[in-house]
Amino acid sequence: MKILLTGGTGYIGSHTAVELIQAGFEVEILDNLANSKIAVLDKIAKITGVKPKFYEVDLLDASATDKVLRDGRFDAVIHLAGLKAVGESVEKPLIYYKNNVCGTINLLESMKRNSVNKMIFSSSATVYGDKDGIKLTEDMETGIGITNPYGETKYVIEKILMDVANSNNDFEVTILRYFNPIGAHSSGLIGEDPNGIPNNLMPIIMKVATGEIPKLMIYGDDYNTPDGTGMRDYIHVVDLAKGHVKAVEKLKPGVEVYNLGTGEATSVKEIVKAFEDVAGKELPNEVVERRAGDLAKIYADCSKAERELGWSTELNIKDAMRDTINYLRHYEG
Ligand code: WQD
Repeated sequence: MKILLTGGTGYIGSHTAVELIQAGFEVEILDNLANSKIAVLDKIAKITGVKPKFYEVDLLDASATDKVLRDGRFDAVIHLAGLKAVGESVEKPLIYYKNNVCGTINLLESMKRNSVNKMIFSSSATVYGDKDGIKLTEDMETGIGITNPYGETKYVIEKILMDVANSNNDFEVTILRYFNPIGAHSSGLIGEDPNGIPNNLMPIIMKVATGEIPKLMIYGDDYNTPDGTGMRDYIHVVDLAKGHVKAVEKLKPGVEVYNLGTGEATSVKEIVKAFEDVAGKELPNEVVERRAGDLAKIYADCSKAERELGWSTELNIKDAMRDTINYLRHYEG
């Protein structure tokens, strides 16, 4: 089966490329390199022995996108390409709507023109909006209380995919709602390496550990949680990548939605301690005010993915910290 992986040089994308190749899929990558580096292709080659064919294409370039789909003769698309910085999306909403939503529409139109009717879509727990402290299931209402344009784009794209599937019985789409991906490949060759100043907890912890950022600001310790800090469902990126392999293997006509998380919630302070325990050194940190829009506790019910995809997580927080630190040791920039 031949797969086009959009966003395939990114954090989730590169790990997904590795797992797809090692599962026997033929993988080609499309990426505009807005938030990743082309050197990742050589890292994928070192891990798998295969260097995926690469197209430096922006999905907003409809004709370039169409040429890839026309020439590539793909069986399916795994669509990860998109801007994903929550804070940036609040400052630059039009860039997010144009890049994420219009880019996806271009891709879908090109898939239709070239008779590619299978898609896995990278969505996010953000679509659940402001449901706080409840174990989230796929049948719960989405789109209410989303606090940022990034999350709105994921919600809108989910709706577009559902409407496309409703209009075309041959269309097969699986929507994967990611919780909080962390960690790195055990080789230390690929990991989270965002361009610019990161927004998420783990890449910030990584920059504190390397001294690029003086200390971690813990956004509030007055939440209604055991230690007062925010709790999230942190999933090892390799487990997340393996979820994509299972999803593409189980594609069928219509739309299916799956949570990809661990089913457990971990607090910021627990993450910091886990990192310190593995790193064997303290992580400078200070509790400050809450971050606007943050909820206390967001975590997944993953029983549907376990039941229907035969997928469940195999790695834990400690594995993620070990692999993150190993990646930092290998990091070449
Ligand atoms: C996690 C926890 C913060 C930074 C977002 C997106 C979501 C997904 C993951 C893409 C929270 C705390 C963080 C810091 C802190 N992205 N924190 N100090 O907000 O759960 O989710 O990223 O799909 O869609 O919404 O992730 O890593 O930003 O925050 O205390 O410097 O860490 O308050 O409790 P979040 P995060």
